[in-house]
Amino acid sequence: MKALVLAGGTGTRLRPFSYSMPKQLIPIANKPVLERVLENIRDLGVTEIAVIVGHHAKEIADALGDGSRLGVAITYIPQESPAGLAQCVTLARDFLGDDDFVMYLGDNMLPQGIAEAAAEFRALRPAAQIVVQQVADPRAFGVAEVDAGGVVERLVEKPPVPRSNLALIGVYFFTPVIHEAVDAIEPSARGELEITDAIQWLVSHGATVRAQEYAGYWKDTGKVEDVLECNQRLLDGMERRVEGDVDAESVLIGAVVVEPGARIRRSFVEGPAVIGAGTVLENSHVGPHTSIGRDCVLTGTHLDYSIALDGVTVSGVRGLHGSLLGRSAAVTGTTVAHRHHRLVVGDHTRVEVAA
Ligand code: DAU
Repeated sequence: MKALVLAGGTGTRLRPFSYSMPKQLIPIANKPVLERVLENIRDLGVTEIAVIVGHHAKEIADALGDGSRLGVAITYIPQESPAGLAQCVTLARDFLGDDDFVMYLGDNMLPQGIAEAAAEFRALRPAAQIVVQQVADPRAFGVAEVDAGGVVERLVEKPPVPRSNLALIGVYFFTPVIHEAVDAIEPSARGELEITDAIQWLVSHGATVRAQEYAGYWKDTGKVEDVLECNQRLLDGMERRVEGDVDAESVLIGAVVVEPGARIRRSFVEGPAVIGAGTVLENSHVGPHTSIGRDCVLTGTHLDYSIALDGVTVSGVRGLHGSLLGRSAAVTGTTVAHRHHRLVVGDHTRVEVAA
């Protein structure tokens, strides 16, 4: 089996981040989503992976290289414009050959992995197998109608009036018959070649498509709120590990990870939280549910339920909550305590918060 990972697209819902970095590289508990995707694929024993990349191709290649660090071999396939998930399959046609493959959306987090779904596909080998989960509002997803035996009867992409509450989550298993289907479909109303339509084509032509209901945690990290919620979830599973330098006037409570080279001075860190390598905290209160990247400097700051990417500096801002701070962003202020600020700040941006 091979793998096809989709890391193109525009990421409009994650602006301003997605202007300067691909959404698939946003770190969750200090590890990029895309790296977690590749690890889940590698854990199936699948090592030949094609990654579809759009205009952030260079950044993704810089971050993942040839994949050897993660124990996989990556082939990058450029996509000029995001013309749809099914177009990605066409672009990867030569790479995929006549092998079965798992297609994995590069912004989807399934921290418990996909081993069970893969085992079911390998055992039953239907023409295609989707992975679904019940959601409260399925209108933003592909939606599947599935019979009691797990066979898919109908699929619709983002229906205004969903006929089931089963959303397609970002993992699909295909046999080579999918190539015939993607060649047969037309662009949807939003102008994209939808993989949902290609799978529906298989159903309409009598092929067996199965659905596996995913019991674990799943999040499409397409929006800031989802990124923060997912970060919270992953931090909750962490264990305390202190490798940096913590002075006697600082207090760490609960599951706090302090990476090597980080320095904590006269500060209070409430776990779960992770403080990246080389980061300095001074007179600050960080956490819970907060990830601080590498080489950040936080002085006189109170920050919780937030993510700061590498190189962030924050000084004198006491009420940061629910914030996402881009790489090398600088936030300064002189705000009084107990006033909350929720900032979403792009890379290399300077923000001054007034009292
Ligand atoms: O998250 C699950 C949902 O993902 C499914 O329920 C939907 O059926 C499926 O269509 C998809 O919907 P989204 O609107 O969330 O897809 P998005 O545009 O966010 O793209 C998903 C990933 O694929 C993302 O990492 C970007 C990448 N992509 C997307 C397009 C349209 C590409 O690499 N190329 C593309 O042309």
